[in-house]
Parts: sequence; C-alpha cells; structure tokens
Amino acid sequence: MAILGANGSGKTTLLKILAGSLEPTSGTVEVDGVPLRHTRRGLRRHRQDVQLVLQDPDDQLFSADVVHDVAFGPANLGLDGSEISERVAEALDLLSIEPLAGRPTHELSYGERKRVTIAGAMAMRPCVLLLDEPSAGLDPAGVEEMFHALDKLEKNHTTVVLSTHDTALAYEWANSVAVVHGGTVRQGHPDEILRDGNVMTAARLRPPG
Ligand SMILES: Nc1ncnc2c1ncn2[C@@H]1O[C@H](COP(=O)(O)OP(=O)(O)O)[C@@H](O)[C@H]1O
Ligand SMILES: [Mg+2]
Repeated sequence: MAILGANGSGKTTLLKILAGSLEPTSGTVEVDGVPLRHTRRGLRRHRQDVQLVLQDPDDQLFSADVVHDVAFGPANLGLDGSEISERVAEALDLLSIEPLAGRPTHELSYGERKRVTIAGAMAMRPCVLLLDEPSAGLDPAGVEEMFHALDKLEKNHTTVVLSTHDTALAYEWANSVAVVHGGTVRQGHPDEILRDGNVMTAARLRPPG
C-alpha cells in the first residue's frame, strides 16, 4: 500500500502514529481489532508486529558495522546468539546486501544505508513494514534495487506500506493507495483514487502519466 501526499500533508505523522512512536490526539490504532496501548508493554508488543523505517537512514544507524546494526533489534528482544545470527542472515538475504555484512555503515552509499535500515526492521520479523519515503534521494538504479528488495519482502508475506509523493511509482507498485490531505485520508484502488482529478488536485498531486 502507498500513502501519498504533498510535502507537509502528514505522511510521516501518520506512519509514526501507526508505528506507535506518536500517540494520536484522537482515535486509536488497532491491530487485528486489538487497540494499541501506549504502555511499555503495549509498545513492545506492537513493535514485534509493526516496524517503521524512517526516511533518513542516519537517524536509525548507529552500530559500527552492518551486521551489528541489523542484529540490534533482535538482540534487544533478548534472543540467543544463534537465533540472532539466523535472523541477520535472513534479513541480509531479503535485502540482497550479504556482501555488505562486515562493512562499516558510514562507508556505505545512501541507498545501501537505506537497505541496511530496512534489513534491521526485517530482522524483527514484522507482519507490517512501514517505510517513510523509501525511494527519496535514490538515483534510478537505486530505486530499482529498492523495489526489487520490496518485491522480495512481499513474497516473504510481509505487508509493505510506504509513503511517497511519486504518484507514478505508487500507481505502478501499490495494490491500494491512501491520499493524505487536510487531515483526511482517501483510500482505495489506485485506478479509483489516482484517476480522480478532484482528489488529486485538492491534494496537490500530479496524476500518474
Ligand atoms: N510533532 C509534531 N507536532 C506538531 N506538528 C507536527 C509535528 N510533526 C510534524 N508536524 C506538522 O504536521 C504536518 C505534517 O507533517 P509530516 O507528517 O512531516 O508531513 P509529510 O511527511 O507528509 O511531509 C506539518 O505541517 C508539520 O509541520
Ligand atoms: Mg515526511
């Protein structure tokens, strides 16, 4: 699913609310009908189902090398060493970044760092992966590598929800889109929503090609 909206429309805010890192001023987040509680326990439980990857990888990378960064979440769950290694190997494979395993994160390209942060989220084995503007700042080859990785995650039965202001990309990739504008969300099939001139004009978005 793609969350679409102009700059400042609230995409990042919506993703942070869904991830539990921001508490909504009204309304609730539900997972399978169960409301999220903003307690330590509630949030800990929620983070095992739903993982958010921020737009800027440098907000999320802080270990010396790729393996340690990807291992950080599982290590925090208190898993034993062999389980952590297994999850790290699986996540590196999903993002096709095995060759980066021993590399210091600060030596990697922006696109590589983005894929390392996604691997870190996948090592938590979430049901839902939230990605804030995963294609922003990538060159065309980087975007292609990113979406190749996202296809692999979908085949791994992870639900991917991403934000973007690129309507053409959303139209091509998403099964469902949600347009954020003026505090409201219009959600539906890409053909229904992205071909609706009124919705697109109001949201200050360009219709897909
Ligand atoms: N913590 C916050 N408290 C109040 N307003 C915020 C906060 N974070 C962002 N905003 C405002 O909310 C609006 C939506 O921001 P954001 O979710 O970052 O939009 P987008 O990701 O679509 O560009 C903006 O006007 C922004 O300035
Ligand atoms: Mg944003």
